[in-house]
Amino acid sequence: MSVQPIGVFDSGLGGLTAVKQLRAIMPHENIIYFGDTGRVPYGNRSVETIRRYAAQDANFLLSNNVKMVIAACGTVSSTASDLGEKLPVPYTNVIAPTAKAAVEATKNGRIGVIGTRATILSCAYKKEIERLDGGMKVFQKDCPLFVPIVEEGFISSDDPIARLAVERYLKVLKDEKVDTIILGCTHYPLLKAIIGEYVGMEVKLIDSGKETAIRAAELLKEKGLLNESGEEGECKFFVSDRTEDFSNVASLFLQSSIGENVSRVDIQHF
Ligand code: DGL
Repeated sequence: MSVQPIGVFDSGLGGLTAVKQLRAIMPHENIIYFGDTGRVPYGNRSVETIRRYAAQDANFLLSNNVKMVIAACGTVSSTASDLGEKLPVPYTNVIAPTAKAAVEATKNGRIGVIGTRATILSCAYKKEIERLDGGMKVFQKDCPLFVPIVEEGFISSDDPIARLAVERYLKVLKDEKVDTIILGCTHYPLLKAIIGEYVGMEVKLIDSGKETAIRAAELLKEKGLLNESGEEGECKFFVSDRTEDFSNVASLFLQSSIGENVSRVDIQHF
């Protein structure tokens, strides 16, 4: 058993959607979250830059004595896929658990994957799904406007901008008759209602944050590292840019209100 915190990082605050799932599944765990708000978005950057940023983000978490590192970011997970090999603690990213859940969920073997441009260009989800089951047909679509749409708060189910973007990007997946779609980016769970309405409620939407939280719990259990203190876990938040308004934006992703328990980090030093 270990009361050390779990370290979670993302390119920004979108990874808080994964923290929400972690807290639901493991309420006794302490969590340290780092959001690279000074350098977000990662999704349109080069492979070299994303890999360098990811290493710094993980190093910052390690300097806080975390017992596990979780890359909640779809872009980091798909682009810096070997990050875990260099870390001295258990690690998971979003790809393997989410791909596995999609393969288990599909009935017709036709899976859609949506994510940032970097995630889709990497083909990481497609490769992992095909590794798990060579009979699967995978259809990918990058949706670069979804991140700013969510960050602007255009997420209500009748929002015309969000609805138009969903229709524009997802028509190709609908036409291909996928029965399962991986929401391969931290922000996309907030568009779940609009996406579900457009593609049809029978299409299963796989939330990478949720699947990764389930995998993280399994890993901690396997390693004997669960926090069994029985006390409610605490969350500490760190960002690389201004901390003002943090709680407003953070509560959008966490879907619960949080205090101003946030500090600024100079991430270039890690
Ligand atoms: N967190 C990123 C992801 O999940 C989205 C935002 C970005 O482009 O950095 O891919």
